Amino acid sequence: MHYLLRNRDIQGIESLDVYRESQGYEGLRTAINMDRDKVIRTVQNSGLRGRGGAGFPTGRKWSFLDQSQSQRYIVVNADEAEPGTFKDRELIEHNPHQVIEGALIAAYALNATKAFIFVRGELLTGYESLLRAKNEAQGHGYVGSHLFGSDFSISLGIFRSAGAYICGEETALLESLEGRRGQPRIKPPFPAQVGLYGQPTVVNNAETVANLPPILINGSEWYRGYGTADSPGLKIFSVSGRIKRPDNYELPLATRLESLLYEFAGGPLEGHDFKAVIPGGSSVPLLIPASFHVALDYESMSREGTMLGSGGVIVLDDTVCIVGAAARLLKFYRGESCGKCTPCREGTFWMAAILDRIESGLGTMKDLELLPDIADNVGGKCLCPLGDASLPFMLSAMKYFRAEFIRHIEEHRCPLDGIKNRNLTMPS
Ligand SMILES: Cc1cc2nc3c(=O)[nH]c(=O)nc-3n(C[C@H](O)[C@H](O)[C@H](O)COP(=O)(O)O)c2cc1C
Repeated sequence: MHYLLRNRDIQGIESLDVYRESQGYEGLRTAINMDRDKVIRTVQNSGLRGRGGAGFPTGRKWSFLDQSQSQRYIVVNADEAEPGTFKDRELIEHNPHQVIEGALIAAYALNATKAFIFVRGELLTGYESLLRAKNEAQGHGYVGSHLFGSDFSISLGIFRSAGAYICGEETALLESLEGRRGQPRIKPPFPAQVGLYGQPTVVNNAETVANLPPILINGSEWYRGYGTADSPGLKIFSVSGRIKRPDNYELPLATRLESLLYEFAGGPLEGHDFKAVIPGGSSVPLLIPASFHVALDYESMSREGTMLGSGGVIVLDDTVCIVGAAARLLKFYRGESCGKCTPCREGTFWMAAILDRIESGLGTMKDLELLPDIADNVGGKCLCPLGDASLPFMLSAMKYFRAEFIRHIEEHRCPLDGIKNRNLTMPS
């Protein structure tokens, strides 16, 4: 049974009729029949952690919200521009009511006056699906005034962004939602104190809120029946790249990476071997096959020297040039840097240029010192973590595949020329 990717089991779940036939909006009804504190406690007890990348406990985040102001906002982050991550896309396209219901439950718990869903500009199908679902929900009284006869009223805005990776960062997202250029704000103050239009705001990922209806219906103990004590519940893993069955897989946290790669996603392409995976979207250190036994939960991944991140598992095999992959990714961060902070703007530019130089056979051994030196001048030196996010894959590639970097330099060419499929160097 899928609780998030319900379209896999239930045809037509994107329509309100079918959604209601399978307990749709019962989580919201249950929440509204409870005190707000009890809803927050239920979410806290479930141990749900944010699925936007950092894994911060959702209930704890909610508890920071300044309740002293008359206006409070809940913003659902469906910007999803992290390379290799396409779970929120499936959710909003095929199970939009569950994302909306989750947003409404969060809004009720936080006594918010308005909720927004912020959708990545390129995800037009998902945006239209959400709009249709919102109109249906509004038409049946699930959005609007006095929900289920209570004193709780809420309006919901579906906002389509201009399409920029940085707009997924919560303060850049708020700037964009307010109609300004998407650039991060200085923190503190954090959005829980000063967020949208200067009012207290909680930003939660779309997958995070999609977990709320089943938690409210089935209870926190049920949710804790999946995963581990510190990483409970279910998570969607987006698997892409050089693998037989790239797809979204909804699995209990702590499922083994090797099980995801072989059992579910079918293993490597015929005649090839896995070389590495980037397990949490593009912003985390890679794992080599010797680490594929790792359990996919926040703690085990951290012990293995990487992060669960967004759950986007990008698979590289023996046809992928590791230097080319790093160059490809750095070009992504270079293009997506908003330019506000000099270390990120300049650092991503130079790292991309140097990696390109090495990949094309024009690098020198000095470049292998230059790259970590530039990385050192980017990491932790910017307003938001975009610059930091550009570093882990490159640095881990240099650590685990140093010999491949050196071969590029010594042979003055890419040793994989002739083998590699340039189109598949990195999924973008
Ligand atoms: C450059 C950058 C891009 C991000 N993109 C996203 C995104 O697309 N979706 C998302 O939910 N969080 C994204 N985040 C994380 C958000 O800032 C925020 O932490 C998250 O939405 C919180 O939701 P959660 O508590 O439910 O995980 C991004 C962060 C950074 C630094």
